[in-house]
Amino acid sequence: MSQSRNRIVADSPQDAAARAAGVFTQIVSQAVEARGICHVALAGGVTPRAMYSHLASHATTDDVPWSRVDVFFGDERDVPQDDSDSNFHMAQRSLFDHTPIDWERIHPMRADAADLDAAVAEYEQLIRASLPAGEGGLPQFDLILLGLGTDGHVASLFPGTAGLDEQEKLVTSCHIPVLGRNRMTVTFPLINAARHVLFFVTGDDKAETVKRVVHEGDPTLPASRVNPKNGETHFVLDPAAAKWL
Ligand code: 6PG
Repeated sequence: MSQSRNRIVADSPQDAAARAAGVFTQIVSQAVEARGICHVALAGGVTPRAMYSHLASHATTDDVPWSRVDVFFGDERDVPQDDSDSNFHMAQRSLFDHTPIDWERIHPMRADAADLDAAVAEYEQLIRASLPAGEGGLPQFDLILLGLGTDGHVASLFPGTAGLDEQEKLVTSCHIPVLGRNRMTVTFPLINAARHVLFFVTGDDKAETVKRVVHEGDPTLPASRVNPKNGETHFVLDPAAAKWL
């Protein structure tokens, strides 16, 4: 495992999941120790599943003050919460079902709501009512977990979509042409108000995108817009995703 400031390249995909779980645990524990509560936004997709499973394993569950953790989501698909494509469903099966988390503190996005605009506004209001304001006056997550698409998207902020340029709303919805589906997603103002943003990325297919984001800050990639003004960005990568670094 190699480590530079806020960048961990693990020895394997399994080790990467353990390292990401370790960073999560450290940030959450520090937040609860300092402020008595922690607000996190989880990522969806496939990659985080291994990290959530590691967090749910006995070895790490006791290290996380789950009863003081408020869990939100960075994005969600327009499917019911019990759908196998749902990010909430994935987190429930890999994490929530195996931890002493307070279910009252889990806040799923209702991206399948008939009135999506109303659900988006409701979620933003919940975030504004639940989180303390950071130095910039916006609600400040202690930790936002992000994956990385091969096209450089984060959450559901895809290239060429209106959400990329949203500077007022903290949560928005958009139609994703490449998927032919609608999504609900946090926006960059909210991401960049966080204390910590953790990218957890594995797989050979992500290596080129990782290089373009980390080494080049390629402005054509949404991920390059992640830059917390009063916070830190962390990368936990497996060897395959880090091979061009
Ligand atoms: C989602 C995620 C999304 C994900 C990337 C990477 O809803 O799909 O929130 O932003 O992090 O698409 O997905 P994988 O981890 O499946 O490669």
